[in-house]
Amino acid sequence: MKTLAVTGVLGYSGRYIAGEAARRGWRVVGLTNSAGRLPNPEGYELRPMPWSSRENVLEGVDVLVNTYWVRFSYAGAGHATFSHAEAVENTKLLFDAARRAGVSRVVHTSITQPDAASPLPYFRGKAELESALAATGMPHSILRPAILFGDTPAESILINNMAWTLRHLPAVATFGWGSYGLQPIHVQDFAELALAEAEQIVPQRIVNAVGQESFTFRELWRELARSMGIWRPVVPVPAALGCLAAGILGRIVGDVMLTRDEIGGLSEGRLAVPGPAVGTRRLSRWLRENAATLGREYASELARRQ
Ligand SMILES: NC(=O)c1ccc[n+]([C@@H]2O[C@H](COP(=O)([O-])OP(=O)(O)OC[C@H]3O[C@@H](n4cnc5c(N)ncnc54)[C@H](OP(=O)(O)O)[C@@H]3O)[C@@H](O)[C@H]2O)c1
Repeated sequence: MKTLAVTGVLGYSGRYIAGEAARRGWRVVGLTNSAGRLPNPEGYELRPMPWSSRENVLEGVDVLVNTYWVRFSYAGAGHATFSHAEAVENTKLLFDAARRAGVSRVVHTSITQPDAASPLPYFRGKAELESALAATGMPHSILRPAILFGDTPAESILINNMAWTLRHLPAVATFGWGSYGLQPIHVQDFAELALAEAEQIVPQRIVNAVGQESFTFRELWRELARSMGIWRPVVPVPAALGCLAAGILGRIVGDVMLTRDEIGGLSEGRLAVPGPAVGTRRLSRWLRENAATLGREYASELARRQ
C-alpha cells in the first residue's frame, strides 16, 4: 500500500484530500502543527510539520500533497503570529524534506495567476514556491485554485462571510465596479483533482483548479442574495473605502475579514483564468442547498488558528 502525506489533514482542503486518498486505498499520514488543537475523527496518523521535527517526517512517504499556506500575515494580540514570508521559508523546508526522503511526487497547492513581480505577497510568495518546487527536480503537479467552497458554510469562510454581510448590513459593496471574475471550485472536486495528480506520471504539470461557473464579484453578490431570498443594493466604492469598511467590520467580529492585499488580488482579476474547468459541482446549486444556514454565523479565520 502506498503512503500519501498531506499537510493540513485536520484543516479544510487537506481533510477532503485525506478522505479521498483513504477511499482510493492510500495509507494516509497527516502533517500538522495542530495535533491536539483540532479534532482527528478519522484517526489519521499525525506527524509534525518538518520544520518542528528533528527527524525527516517524510521518510517512507510516496507522495506529498501540500496545502500549507497562511491566508495573510498577522502580528496582532491574542493569537499566534504568522506571515507569508515565514510560510514561504517553511514550505521550502517541506520541499527539501520531501527531496531528501525520496518522495516520488509532490502535489502542491498554489493560486490562480501567481506572479513573481507582484507587490502582493500572497501571489508573489506562491510564484516563488512554484519556482522553488521546480528547482528541486522532483516530479510534481501544481494546482492553482481561485476560491474553494463546500461542504458546510462554516468551512467556506469567504463565501459564508459575504452571506453574513448580506444578512447584517443594509447594503453591500464592490471594490470599483466589481466586474472582475472569480471561479470557485468545490473542495471535493479539488480533492479528487489532487488525488488524480498524485497518481499522475507526467513529470511536471500545472493545472488551474477552477470550477464550472465563473462570476464577476458583482454577480456573486447577486447570486448569493438571490439564493438567500434577500435583496440588498450592491454599491461600487473605491477600494480604499472598502478596505476601511472591512477593517471596521473585522474589529467588530474580532477577525481579519478581508485584507487590502486580498482586495487587490480580487480587483486585479487574479481569481479568474481562461481555459477549461476541472470541477463539476456548481456554486449556484450549493448556494441554494445551503441558503438557510449560509451567513447565519460569522466564520472567523483567527478563531480557526486559536
Ligand atoms: N480556501 C480557499 O478559498 C483557497 C483559495 C485559493 C487558494 N487556496 C490555497 O489552498 C490551500 C489550502 O487552503 P485551505 O483553505 O484548505 O487551508 P487550511 O486548511 O486553512 O490550512 C492548510 C494548512 O496551512 C496551515 N495553516 C493555515 N493557516 C495557518 C497559520 N495562520 N499559521 C500556521 N499554519 C497555518 C494549516 O496548519 P495546521 O495543520 O497546523 O492546521 C494547514 O497545514 C492553500 O495553499 C491556499 O493558498 C485556498
